[in-house]
Amino acid sequence: MIPTLEWTDSGVRFLDQTKLPLEQIYVLATGYDEVATVIRDMIVRGAPAIGVSAGMGMALGIRNSPAATIEALAKDVDVMADVLAHTRPTAVNLFWGIERIRSLFLKLVNEQPDDRSEADQFAVIRGEVVAEAKRMYDEDIATCKTMGQVGEHLLPREGTVLTHCNAGALCAAGYGTALGVIRAAVEAGAKIDVLADETRPYLQGARLTAWELLQDNIPTTVLCDNMSGYLMGKGRVQAVIVGADRIAANGDVANKIGTYSVAILAKEHGIPFYVAAPWATIDMKTASGADIPIEQRSAYEVTHSNGKQMTPDGAGIENPAFDVTPSKYVTAIITERGLLRAPYHESMLAMQATGHATAA
Ligand code: MRU
Repeated sequence: MIPTLEWTDSGVRFLDQTKLPLEQIYVLATGYDEVATVIRDMIVRGAPAIGVSAGMGMALGIRNSPAATIEALAKDVDVMADVLAHTRPTAVNLFWGIERIRSLFLKLVNEQPDDRSEADQFAVIRGEVVAEAKRMYDEDIATCKTMGQVGEHLLPREGTVLTHCNAGALCAAGYGTALGVIRAAVEAGAKIDVLADETRPYLQGARLTAWELLQDNIPTTVLCDNMSGYLMGKGRVQAVIVGADRIAANGDVANKIGTYSVAILAKEHGIPFYVAAPWATIDMKTASGADIPIEQRSAYEVTHSNGKQMTPDGAGIENPAFDVTPSKYVTAIITERGLLRAPYHESMLAMQATGHATAA
């Protein structure tokens, strides 16, 4: 499996996704601030991978902090959380990853017995947060595999599935969300050809989805972003499956810019549009897609391609990194807890209460 990121004794090691597919090189982040830079610069990207990276960043910061007292360490933890939280605003997994380690830290501090020396308290707390960060990594892979089992039967046994951006092993600790469902279908014997939207401007589809699927011998064809309507009109697409960065409490889905257009095209052509995302991507505190913060990235990503200027000086530039697909376009949401279907809010409330879907 492709090692998107991993905990090592010297820090968190990341596969540099900015260099794929031409170079496979790794970057070592030795402090939480370096993890923040890695997330901001999209050396690691994709909602679940961002969540696990943030958790590991927190654990790294707690392990490495020079604080002399637990009280001083607690202040450092607030700074770490703040720095990591100001990297990328859209994927709710970022905040989930930070909070998972911060809340464990606070619980551990409260639980320390009075007769334990401060040195021993440091050792216990540090050991526990590092173990938790490693658990987040393992759980993420297990979650992706479960999503694969939950959703694979939705895909055709023989046919073509279109995807947008990269929701694969590279967007998670491994295996992937949307591409994990495709992998599981293929493992179950389905013959699936994948159409990968190139996904301008960062080209996650052309560079990353095509690269990782071809490593698994899953036939993949790259499309420019404006070609999917033509192919859908020709009957060449049997299903669409994408990931998500945040799903609001009404089922609206924030995902890579361009997803909304694909969803409308799918609806117009009667093609099912599936979203695969872990429960951690569902944000019950955000009522609808209109409340999801959309990251605006640098104009340079649009004006330049491979370092070469593509637009005239003076042209206005837009670069929203995500858009919101209203839930009415979503056929089903695949999570590790089961399938969510419309009406999404009710379906999510039931899943939140029981940990399971009420209906498949
Ligand atoms: O800007 P990115 O590359 O981090 O955006 C990634 C996506 O939009 C993915 O589709 C999303 O995170 C889902 S991956 C499970």
